[in-house]
Order: sequence, then C-alpha cells, then structure tokens
Amino acid sequence: MEFPFDINQLFSERVSILDQTLVAGRKSAGRPDLQAHIATVIDELGRASAKAQQLTAPITSASKLQSQRHQLYLLKDGERNGGRGVVVGFLKVGYKKLFLLDRQGVHVEAEPLCVLDFYIAENLQRHGYGLELFDFVLQHKNLEPVLMAYDRPSPKLLSFLAKHYCLTQSVPQVNNFVVFEGFFLNREAAQ
Ligand code: ACO
Repeated sequence: MEFPFDINQLFSERVSILDQTLVAGRKSAGRPDLQAHIATVIDELGRASAKAQQLTAPITSASKLQSQRHQLYLLKDGERNGGRGVVVGFLKVGYKKLFLLDRQGVHVEAEPLCVLDFYIAENLQRHGYGLELFDFVLQHKNLEPVLMAYDRPSPKLLSFLAKHYCLTQSVPQVNNFVVFEGFFLNREAAQ
C-alpha cells in the first residue's frame, strides 16, 4: 500500500506498535503533521480490511484506536516504492473480558488477548508477511496462539491459523469469538 508521503520517515522500524497516542517511535511525538499522516495510514488500512472482509463499516480507524485500549502492529517494507517504503499490513489486538464455554459447556470467564483485526495488502497476501507479523506479536506478548481468542475470524484467517499453528479444533461458543482446543487446558495448567 503506497502513500503520497515517505513511509520510512513515518515508521522507522519494520514493525511499529501503535496505541491510543498514535505515536510511532520518538520521531512522531510532538509532530502533529506526522501524526496526521499516521492517522491517514490507519484509516486507509481499516477501510481496506473492512472491504476485504465484506464488512459494512471499518472496525479499525485512527479515532477508534485513540479511544480504545488496543494495540496495532503495523508492518512495512522499507525497500519498495523507490525506497520510500510501503505499508504491508497490520494486526490489531486487545484484551477483552469474555464469557466462554469450555469443552464441557461450562461457562468460564477469561480476559484473553484477542485478535480483533488483521489485514495484509491484497497484492502481498500469501507471501508470508501475515506469518511474519503474527509471529512478531506472539514474541512481543510472549504468548502461544492457542491462548488467544479470535473475533469473527474470516475463512482466510481460519485457514492461516490451521496452516501455520495447527489450530483446527475450535470449541463452540455462543458469541462471535473463536477459541481452540487447548485454550482451556493451558489456562488450567497455568493456574
Ligand atoms: N484464501 C485462503 N486462504 C488464504 C488466503 C486466501 N486468499 N490468503 C491467505 N490464506 C491463508 C492460507 O492458509 C495460506 O496458506 P496457503 O497459501 O498455503 O493456502 C496462508 O494464509 C498464507 O500465509 P501468509 O502468507 O503468512 O498469510 P497472509 O500474508 O496472506 O496474511 C491474512 C493472512 C491476514 C488472513 C490475509 O490473507 C488477509 O489480509 N486476508 C484478508 C483480510 C482477512 O480476512 N483478515 C482476517 C480478518 S478476521 C480477524 O481479524 C479476527
């Protein structure tokens, strides 16, 4: 995804972590011009993700990020676009208090890290960028994918999780979240 400004100036790291402050590293702190560009990037990514998932409205935008306690991991490829860089995609996560059903159908209250939105630019999908970004988040959070919950996962995300992390057996829920076999097991072991 290309923008009419220098992506490398905006995001110095290959993966940037954005939160309520919309600041990507020290460079954009106290720079309203750069923060406006960051907001443009997030809004554009949110719109593209919604379109890819056929949602009626984006679930990710700069204003939503500012008002929610979520984290957005943004992946760039700094080499493309004549060295100005392109935005490859993003993964948004956040902790949510959920009422889940375990394998026996017993209600369990949990506050797992949830995958809320995930998008790789159309022309760059199926090139391993999604895996790179997901693995970065797992390392950063020191977490296994089986311990996370997935908000309304698309068929592509379900296929991605099965391929890369062998997550295939979900435990039926009455809400939009999907958790997999092992979610409750590992919680018990961790307690
Ligand atoms: N059809 C089916 N499966 C796909 C597709 C596709 N078009 N694209 C990726 N996948 C899955 C497959 O398992 C694929 O393996 P395969 O090529 O051997 O079949 C695997 O992902 C490829 O892995 P990566 O290259 O690392 O994944 P990618 O960079 O494409 O990122 C992502 C995966 C984020 C799901 C991307 O395909 C995408 O943006 N899709 C559109 C938006 C979307 O559905 N996002 C998830 C929303 S749900 C949520 O966020 C909770």
